[in-house]
This record gives sequence, structure tokens and C-alpha cells, in this order.
Amino acid sequence: MLDANVAKLINEQVNKELYSAYLYLDIANYYTEEGLDGFANWYNIQAQEERDHALLFVKYLQNNGMKVTLEAIAKPDKTLDSIMAALNVGLEHEQYVTSLIHTIYDAAYSIKDFRTMQFLDWFVKEQGEEEKNAEDLIKKYELFGQDSKGLYMLDNELGARTYSAPSLTL
Ligand code: FEO
Repeated sequence: MLDANVAKLINEQVNKELYSAYLYLDIANYYTEEGLDGFANWYNIQAQEERDHALLFVKYLQNNGMKVTLEAIAKPDKTLDSIMAALNVGLEHEQYVTSLIHTIYDAAYSIKDFRTMQFLDWFVKEQGEEEKNAEDLIKKYELFGQDSKGLYMLDNELGARTYSAPSLTL
């Protein structure tokens, strides 16, 4: 059995990850409307990864004999009114998710819940990668996305991203 507070935070994280998937689907839809199918592909894959994250938290709760309670997923309400604005929404959201993971880690650490800390290690690393990816996208757009030829090539590059299942299995 997990500590009640740690379990509550992980259960809330299921919802946050599903919201992340919803937000990235919203961003993907924005780019599709803008005719940037490569950017849309990148964020659609991101949405799939967020759903994977949610399911990993579900599985962890279940593996530890805890009940999972699904709550309503909030409507994505970020303003997506330019290519750069949507990229910044992605980065700020990842920074927020990192803070949530750290909060759960902190709760587990404070009660010496080593099993949960070990489980969360993968997410700590993953968040580092996701923040870097979001920062790289912004840098690339700043460098190459300002003229139509560069934007076309960047869109093609992002269109080549393919989905792969998470390296963590439970
Ligand atoms: Fe599941 Fe992008 O954090």
C-alpha cells in the first residue's frame, strides 16, 4: 500500500497527464489549421506520449493495490495565436509538469518511500528531455522558421518524427 498523500498526488498526476495529451492535441490541431502538418505531427506524437505517461501512473497505482479515480479533464484554454505562441505554451507546460513530478518526488522522499522515488526517476529524466525538446523547437524556429523556405524545411523535419512506446514498463 502507498501512503495516502503520495497516492493522491499520483492519482492527480493521471489527470494532469491526460490534460497534457489534450493540450498537445489542441496545439496539433492549431498547426493543422495553419497548414503545418509536420508541426502537427510532432504534437500529435507528443499527445500520444502523454497518454502513455497517464497509463504508467495508473499502472503504478494498481500495482500497489490502490484505487484509481478518474476526474474530468479540463478544457485546453491556452492562447494559440501564432507559431511561436504555441511553441511557448508547450515549453511552459513542460516546466509546469516538471514541478508536479518534483512535488510527488518530494512527498515520497519525505516519508522514505524509495519504491515511488525509483519509479519517479524515469519521469524526472523524461521531463528533462521534454523541456529540452521544447526549448530546441523554439531555437530552431527562431533560427530557421522566419522565412518560408526555412519554415517549410523545419515542418518537413518535424513531420519525420515517429512514435515510440515509453522505455519504462511496469
Ligand atoms: Fe508527461 Fe510531457 O510530461
